[in-house]
Amino acid sequence: MKSSKDLLTDRFGRTVTSLRISLTNRCNLDCIYCHSEGDEGARDEMTVEMIAQIVNTAAKFGVKKVKFSGGEPLLRKDFEDILRALPQLKDVSVTTNGVLLKSRAHTLKEAGLDRVNVSLDTLDPEKYAYITHGRPEDLNEVLEGIEAAIDAGLTPVKINMVLLKGINENEIDDMLEFVRRHSGDLVLQIIQVMDFRDGAQYNLDAEKIEKELERHADEIKMRKMHHRKSYIIDGAEVEFVRPIENAEFCANCNRLRITADGKLKPCLLVNNNLIDFTNAEPEELPELLRTSIERRIPFYMDSGKERIIEKRTIIGDRENGS
Ligand code: GTP
Ligand code: 5AD
Repeated sequence: MKSSKDLLTDRFGRTVTSLRISLTNRCNLDCIYCHSEGDEGARDEMTVEMIAQIVNTAAKFGVKKVKFSGGEPLLRKDFEDILRALPQLKDVSVTTNGVLLKSRAHTLKEAGLDRVNVSLDTLDPEKYAYITHGRPEDLNEVLEGIEAAIDAGLTPVKINMVLLKGINENEIDDMLEFVRRHSGDLVLQIIQVMDFRDGAQYNLDAEKIEKELERHADEIKMRKMHHRKSYIIDGAEVEFVRPIENAEFCANCNRLRITADGKLKPCLLVNNNLIDFTNAEPEELPELLRTSIERRIPFYMDSGKERIIEKRTIIGDRENGS
């Protein structure tokens, strides 16, 4: 057994300080590009106790942040119970499509949620319905959900905009204006689309767009996680997530994923190295965490060109994954 200090450091020197926990694979939308956190299929969801145990263990070894995701995490009616069962952490957040956010924002805040990210690729109801296979009216629910989240203090609310060629590439200025109107409570997060479902056909030159933002920026910041940059443009903050063929992104990845059915998952893009912990005793969890950390390999590495040639296909079969 390693000491607590290096338990969560992988062989590339990357120390895991955050968990990304999928709460369910179920979703009330069906986005054309959705990556489902690299984990599709409906299986048994983790209980509140399982989630609390793995977070407690990880927290003992230095994990300070937890991000909940889905499917759509707000479909878990016990999300507030999950939040209440967590140990003290520095940052607890959720990424949601926002459709169900309005009625939950305040209870989630009271249960211990710090902040929320909301997927919102367009401000046009018809485009919204096209992208999500939802109803145009759902867009209004999302907008009201964002207002409720601000009102509840779940800030900064990050607006996730996946860049889609031919669909929303002309909406960046409108999105920046939307963020600006909510002075300081919103951050725009522009995301390069990854090659899942129909994602590839919407890919565009994200680097060029990021350079353009950089040109207009009054200030540039860099995050520790993934070395992502954010730009302040006329008072609006915009963060850029560009994970494809980006070795710097992977070299600075400090998170471990947990699938909805209770498997440790070292990388979004790799599925043949998962570890099931649902039947483990609490005292076995540190060793399982350690083994999962040992399996962490940067998906893109400067010296590992073959990974790029392999293209962005998911590696491995989930069902054979553990
Ligand atoms: P915060 O910024 O701290 O709220 O976390 P986050 O950016 O990870 O939140 P969010 O769930 O909103 O994710 C934003 C985008 O980043 C999504 O498209 C994610 O799929 C992508 N992303 C997040 N983490 C990873 C990762 O480890 N690998 C890859 N390839 N993409 C990631
Ligand atoms: N590429 C990039 N981002 C994606 N997301 C979902 N699928 C993809 C993809 N193929 C984003 C959504 C959501 C977050 C959890 O992941 O925008 O906000």
